[in-house]
Amino acid sequence: MEAALNELVEYVDGMRSSVAEETGFDPIEHILARIKSDESMRDKCRRKGLPETAESALNELYDALGVRIVCAFLSDVYAVRDHIAVCPHFSVIEERDYIMHAKPNGYRSYHMILRSDEGYYAEVQVRTISMDTWAALEHHLQYKKPHVGNQRLIVQELKRCADELASTDVSMQTIRDMILNEEE
Ligand code: GTP
Ligand code: MG
Repeated sequence: MEAALNELVEYVDGMRSSVAEETGFDPIEHILARIKSDESMRDKCRRKGLPETAESALNELYDALGVRIVCAFLSDVYAVRDHIAVCPHFSVIEERDYIMHAKPNGYRSYHMILRSDEGYYAEVQVRTISMDTWAALEHHLQYKKPHVGNQRLIVQELKRCADELASTDVSMQTIRDMILNEEE
């Protein structure tokens, strides 16, 4: 599993360097990679009503390997997506565009499920810095259960923040495009 994850990360690193060399812009801010811990695999199997076995953890769950790629701009997210789609030794099993189709709570990110030639599954999340910021804060807040009266307002405010950040991403992309056009 480590070898498969390393191969994926090295592919992304290589792509990152060649794009930076070609365009002068690094398309990636940072990358995180992890193998899901034994504990988390067991928790998730239990939550999904699956037996706590290696078989279900590796074949019924698709995120034993996880890679998160954070980009500055929206266009970088889709450029990175296109590169990952042609990663050697991995095929794309599923894609979910939670950017074009945000979750009702405001969550945005581009998700891909890959399968390595050996049969390991990897979940790749590609998102902007804004999307990553929102997801991190929302994740923190999930553990602080508010009393019921505030719940609705909090959910509504989180959604508003997500939409404001999404709108800022579009503005930043426009500014970047203007600068690039000027340079040309
Ligand atoms: P899982 O059972 O969690 O795997 O859900 P799923 O198979 O429907 O996949 P989905 O694409 O919804 O979510 C996969 C991963 O995306 C999660 O494990 C989180 O890392 C992230 N994610 C999805 N939704 C949210 C959300 O609302 N908030 C945050 N912070 N992260 C999310
Ligand atoms: Mg999943």
